[in-house]
Formats: sequence, structure tokens, C-alpha cells
Amino acid sequence: MSRNILRVDVLKTLLIIAHQPSPNTCAMARACREAAEENADDLQVLCQTPFETQAEDALNADAILLLTTENLGYMSGAMKDFFDRAYYPCLEVKQGLPVAVIIRAGHDGTGTRRALDSILTGLKWRQVQEPLVCRGDWSEAFLEDCRALCGALAAGLSAGIF
Ligand SMILES: Cc1cc2nc3c(=O)[nH]c(=O)nc-3n(C[C@H](O)[C@H](O)[C@H](O)COP(=O)(O)O)c2cc1C
Repeated sequence: MSRNILRVDVLKTLLIIAHQPSPNTCAMARACREAAEENADDLQVLCQTPFETQAEDALNADAILLLTTENLGYMSGAMKDFFDRAYYPCLEVKQGLPVAVIIRAGHDGTGTRRALDSILTGLKWRQVQEPLVCRGDWSEAFLEDCRALCGALAAGLSAGIF
């Protein structure tokens, strides 16, 4: 086995699951990924949509960042679909998984936060940071908030704090 392959095998994995239906949410996902890569060069950082994400990806992750829009008072259908597929495969074996949440909401965000709290409590995943709700008209400051949250998540995972 080559040295590179061995190294990939032992890297911790931060999985960013980002629903990104608009340019703004794409920018948020990109900011999260870049901050994670800048803050921890010993992590494997994966960034993919909920539809691309299989239960196996969550099973292989050492921490997860969830980024979703709020739609009709709830998380995006895509994010809900991910949990519908991953909930039972993960339930017994991923308890304690460090997780953080970012919500992009046009004007609210509380329904999505409540729903994610409920699902994450059921899974016994550990929210290691206060959820970030980027609410209201678009602000470039949201990107800095995403960077700060995801950078800290990556640094904490890398340092073994989470
Ligand atoms: C069908 C639909 C339903 C939405 N429902 C909500 C909602 O219930 N609460 C809310 O705060 N924003 C709602 N929004 C706004 C989205 O959260 C927002 O458009 C999305 O986060 C993308 O933000 P952006 O315009 O900055 O890209 C909705 C948007 C759509 C298209």
C-alpha cells in the first residue's frame, strides 16, 4: 500500500451535507468547505448535497455539518430525504457523532431548527456548536459566520476536542 493511500485511510472525515439551491447557498457551502480545509490540513473534507449523500457516507464520517434552507417552515425536502434514508442505518452505531447546523432562512428558521433538534436528539448526535441561522435578506456577513462555524468545527475535530 502506498504512503498516500495509508494516510487517507487514517484521516478523520468531516462531511458537509449542504442543500444549495441558489447562488447564495452555494457560496455558503463553499465558505464552509474552504474554512474547514484552511483550519485543519489533516482532515478529509467532503462537501456534497443531501441527495448525493448515502447512509454509508454518514457512517464513515467523524463529524457532520448540515446546511439547509428553510422551506415551508421546515428543513429542505432534500435534507429530510437524507435523514429518511440514513436514520435507521445510523441509529445504533453513530451515537455521539459531533454535528453542527447552519440554516439559511428568508425570514424565520425556527421550524427548521426545531425539526433538526428533534431528529438529532433521536439519533443521539451531539450538536457541538450553537446552530447558526442566517435569517433575512442576504448579507455577505453570512459567509464569515459560516467560515467561523465550520472552521471551528474542523479545528476541534482535528484537535480531538469533539
Ligand atoms: C418554496 C419556498 C418556501 C420557503 N419557505 C420559507 C420559510 O418557511 N421560512 C423562511 O424563513 N424562508 C423560506 N423560504 C426562503 C428560503 O429559505 C430562501 O429562499 C433560501 O434560503 C435561499 O436563500 P437565498 O435567496 O439567499 O439564496 C422559502 C423559499 C422557497 C422557494
